[in-house]
Amino acid sequence: MSARSENFLLRRYIEKAMVDLPAMPTTVMRVVRAIEGGEASASQIEKIITADAAITSKVLKTVNSPYFGMPRTISSVNQAIQILGLNQLRNVTLSIGVLNALNTTSPRIQALQQQCWEQSFASASAAHRIAVKKGLAKPQQEAVLIGGLLHDIGQLFLLTLFNIPYTEVQTRSKKQCAPLHEVERQVLGTTHANLGASLAERWSFPSDLVEMIRDHDGDTTSETLNPTVACVHLADRIVNRIIEPESAEEIFPLDPKFAEWLAFSDAELTEIVELTMKDMEQAKVAASA
Ligand SMILES: [Fe+2]
Repeated sequence: MSARSENFLLRRYIEKAMVDLPAMPTTVMRVVRAIEGGEASASQIEKIITADAAITSKVLKTVNSPYFGMPRTISSVNQAIQILGLNQLRNVTLSIGVLNALNTTSPRIQALQQQCWEQSFASASAAHRIAVKKGLAKPQQEAVLIGGLLHDIGQLFLLTLFNIPYTEVQTRSKKQCAPLHEVERQVLGTTHANLGASLAERWSFPSDLVEMIRDHDGDTTSETLNPTVACVHLADRIVNRIIEPESAEEIFPLDPKFAEWLAFSDAELTEIVELTMKDMEQAKVAASA
């Protein structure tokens, strides 16, 4: 079988797997729409969540995970809303929906998903820090939190359902010191960013989130520069450089047009990197406690 037909088959499998993915749970979609609409009260949101026992227990489990650094255990959805606010609760609920759809029984894949998730939390806090530093408006600062958290859902999808071929793509990118999105295009005919955006569209995610997912790699033909995308892009690059200091510069290059807009001095960049490293350390310590 030629390499070309192998790729062709892989692409077909990926397309089929996308179609076969489960829909977002109704509760997740109801929560997201109610919060997006801006008219639902905290008690209405609480009612929607608590009517679904499975989602309620997952929300509580997530908000009590080390990444949120809660000083005490959150024992009710009401308390979670009080402490995190509705927007963060929407983010948590959407993340639960994604993990639900990419459910796996393999302990090895579960460990990889966990690792992906840890990086996503770090990206979310870095993206938020960057947005604040750039003086973005409050709604945009909120938006990059969810963008940072979910920008790599395409990678999560590939690692979960196409682990062996996707690990090969990652290895080839490292060996060749070539940008990951270029190798993905050669092998898969698409990129994890584009796949992630298709998933986000399929799950009816808000359009600004779809854009952050699709363009986070900087590999975009978009004419206008979207500040939230630039924040998520830099956050992604910073986290990848922390994880793989030797090869990340080639595999995850910083897009020049985003870099130009961000225009951080070396000292400012170093500060963001150091604070992100601190976040990652703290989450690790809390996780092992
Ligand atoms: Fe990515």
